[in-house]
Amino acid sequence: MGPYPAQAQPKEAKLWGGRFEEGVTDVVERFTESISFDKQLYKQDIMGSRAHATMLAHQGLITVSDRDSILQGLDEIERRIENGEFNWRADREDVHMNIEAALTDLIGEPAKKLHTARSRNDQVLTDFRLWCRDAIDKILVSMKQLQVSLITLALNNEGLIVPGYTHLQRAQPVLLQHLLLAYVEEIERDAGRLVDCRARMNFCPLGACALAGTGLPIDRFMTSEALGFTAPLRNSIDAVSDRDFVLEFLSANAITAVHLSRLGEEWVLWASEEFGFITPSDSVSTGSSIMPQKKNPDPMELVRGKSARVIGDLVTLLTLCKGLPHAYNRDLQVAKE
Ligand code: ARG
Repeated sequence: MGPYPAQAQPKEAKLWGGRFEEGVTDVVERFTESISFDKQLYKQDIMGSRAHATMLAHQGLITVSDRDSILQGLDEIERRIENGEFNWRADREDVHMNIEAALTDLIGEPAKKLHTARSRNDQVLTDFRLWCRDAIDKILVSMKQLQVSLITLALNNEGLIVPGYTHLQRAQPVLLQHLLLAYVEEIERDAGRLVDCRARMNFCPLGACALAGTGLPIDRFMTSEALGFTAPLRNSIDAVSDRDFVLEFLSANAITAVHLSRLGEEWVLWASEEFGFITPSDSVSTGSSIMPQKKNPDPMELVRGKSARVIGDLVTLLTLCKGLPHAYNRDLQVAKE
């Protein structure tokens, strides 16, 4: 029987398991879980649930007292997660079921009403869009910092003439600041692509439910607004099918990574004995005991090296999506990794 116990512990019934007589095997559970990576979406998941519960009560679909118990319960769960007191369970598959089941353990019956007019399919997209939106905001700040550093470097070296290259042959003399400001322009366009992507991504999937929406009188504009989205997505099948917002995000990141990789390559060349334009300071270099003449520009080599992963992420997601029929398919879980 290998590492799996012949007599499994009695298992908790799955949220979707009403009609099922048997649970899944441990190996299937481990193979299909996403909690090991999607727990990173906990904040967005809780935000989405707060907005959804508030809307359900406003529409008279749950009582105000159920709403209050749900909101208090979610606060407590968020506190436990942030204090490292939350028990993430692989048998509860993903972040959505972990939080919802924990809420049921905590407050009982009212928690079960939170899933009214909602499916994990529209929930996962809501979390994912919110997460990518936050990630873009953080990356934009880093890009601005990099631009400021490059401009500072240009100002500190005003008037310094360096060889400009074409075909990696010395071509014409240029000012160092001219080249440094070329990097700044590239990053400006990279940031622009993220800003465009953010605007296109910022629409709310909630209410799409599994794929066909719901007959219940929900208010999709209310949840969309509460979560800072521009508007609800128009088509529910589109809302739960597509990951083009992630593809766009990864495309923009891949282009940025290529820009950074070229910058890295250039500085690695400059640090070589042959070019000798820069000597990286000790604080950003490594050496060798057997070849004491060496000073290796490792961080810039790794800027170049790590760009491969960013490009790889884009290729992975393109490949993941290309053969999928509409609407949700479990393959899409992998997109979050
Ligand atoms: N764990 C799943 C994922 O991350 C959640 C969505 C599951 N939906 C479903 N119909 N099984 O993609």
